[in-house]
Amino acid sequence: MPAIARSNGDSTPQKRRLRSDAAAAQESPISTTVNWKSPRRCITASPNSPSNGTERDSSENPKKSPVKKLSDRFISKPKWNPRDAEQMRAVKEALHVSTAPSTVVCREEEQKRVLEFCKAGVEQEKAGSLYVCGCPGTGKSLSMEKVKQLLVDWAKEAGHQQPDMLSINCTSLTKAPDIFSKILSKAQPRKKVNGSTTSALQHLQSFYSQKPQSSGMKMMLIIADELDYLITKDRAVLHDLFMLTTFPFSRCILIGIANAIDLADRFLPRLQSLNCKPIVVTFRAYYRDQILKILQERLMALPYAVFQLQALELCARKVAAASGDMRKALCVCRSAIEVLEAELRESGCNFNSSTVEKSFFEQQIPTVPDILKKQEIDVVRLDHMAVALSKTYKSPIVDTILSLPQHQQIALCSAVKLFRGGKKDATVGELNKSYMDICKTSLIPPVGSLELSSICRVLNDQGLLKLGQSREDKSRRVTLRVDEADIAFALQGIRFFRNCLQ
Ligand SMILES: Nc1ncnc2c1ncn2[C@@H]1O[C@H](COP(=O)(O)OP(=O)(O)OP(=O)(O)O)[C@@H](O)[C@H]1O
Ligand SMILES: [Mg+2]
Repeated sequence: MPAIARSNGDSTPQKRRLRSDAAAAQESPISTTVNWKSPRRCITASPNSPSNGTERDSSENPKKSPVKKLSDRFISKPKWNPRDAEQMRAVKEALHVSTAPSTVVCREEEQKRVLEFCKAGVEQEKAGSLYVCGCPGTGKSLSMEKVKQLLVDWAKEAGHQQPDMLSINCTSLTKAPDIFSKILSKAQPRKKVNGSTTSALQHLQSFYSQKPQSSGMKMMLIIADELDYLITKDRAVLHDLFMLTTFPFSRCILIGIANAIDLADRFLPRLQSLNCKPIVVTFRAYYRDQILKILQERLMALPYAVFQLQALELCARKVAAASGDMRKALCVCRSAIEVLEAELRESGCNFNSSTVEKSFFEQQIPTVPDILKKQEIDVVRLDHMAVALSKTYKSPIVDTILSLPQHQQIALCSAVKLFRGGKKDATVGELNKSYMDICKTSLIPPVGSLELSSICRVLNDQGLLKLGQSREDKSRRVTLRVDEADIAFALQGIRFFRNCLQ
């Protein structure tokens, strides 16, 4: 039986955000409706888009996605009327991040792995844990909603007892240990726990240590999203949570979701030594064809064509090259629609007006140039998308990075490489080693360690790095002050850096 550990409720949860750079996922034609609203907002602040951005193209993938077929269906639709307020609303809604897509494509393989794990748990009444990780906007939360649905359908069909379901977004917890009260109130709804959250954990621990009095107690699927909010100084909450699945009569099928790839390795070493390490399912950043396909699938719900195919392709290419974040792609598309709206406004069309005003407008006899304009602005074009992309990715940080001398850029790249995989800070000495490695592999003569220290000071002054205090230069702690994606985006136009950051 595992030892009973305590959580320290006073520790502060911290949010960690990481980004993976690989991009490949398998596809199959599974897709089902999901009724779910994401609580996330749209993140727009990010880097500038260099004109010759690289792309994660389909050639990186062994399987080519059926984008072409989808495109054919896509083109054959009639064009929309952006002056129609109702159509405009429907289009914007279809592209809103919080609108549950009618189908979830490009995540079939990942969903299958999680579903199989859950099914095995329910079938064999076996507790266990799984950790879902991946960069922001890669469909983790969305997919888990879908898995929940699929599990319910499967249990119904296969005649298994429906598991209890508990979905928790850890950001909504006042204190990290509150998660145990939530689990307890699901596991034992009638159990009253007075005050302290520690006792909720103790109740759970003793509950899952004893043989249940009645047979046929339900399994419980716990989905803990934004798991990194449970990282406390002593790591106890996270540890205790996963340990719940190791008790002899545990009924917990736990799925934890976060960005960090190595969260389980870093924070749950004891689980590993007990041979209870969670299974890890990684959601890779979306690549170009996947972003295009997802956008097209979402637009498929509309009876008209809204975008030029080339415009969507440009969006997919740029977003894939920057981060592979679907949230970003949706924001850019909506922003492109706004560019078109502004163009319509400028051209004097009152498409945004109320129905009364509109019918008044429609009574006016259009002039020839008006008709021409109307024909031109009937679809979101490549140029609208280009404006939206440059707005979205416009950032002074990117300009700063682009204007740095080469060795400062290499030093930044070294920092990015060093901090990939979860490392939060390093010493200047470690940074120097990473920098030397890059120089060595690319046959660039490196600057000396003194020079590198002064480069670090310059980058610190520019607000790109943060340097700590220490007597010795090489022992000063260094952290990145800008988003890794901003650096990747700024430097992706230069082949050397592109290779370096891949
Ligand atoms: N495969 C997909 N099909 C349709 N829409 C998608 C897909 N993947 C992502 N999206 C859209 O992107 C949004 C963000 O996805 P989701 O919330 O699942 O990301 P996440 O991986 O959980 O990100 P984070 O790490 O920031 O929580 C979704 O709300 C959805 O609108
Ligand atoms: Mg999420």
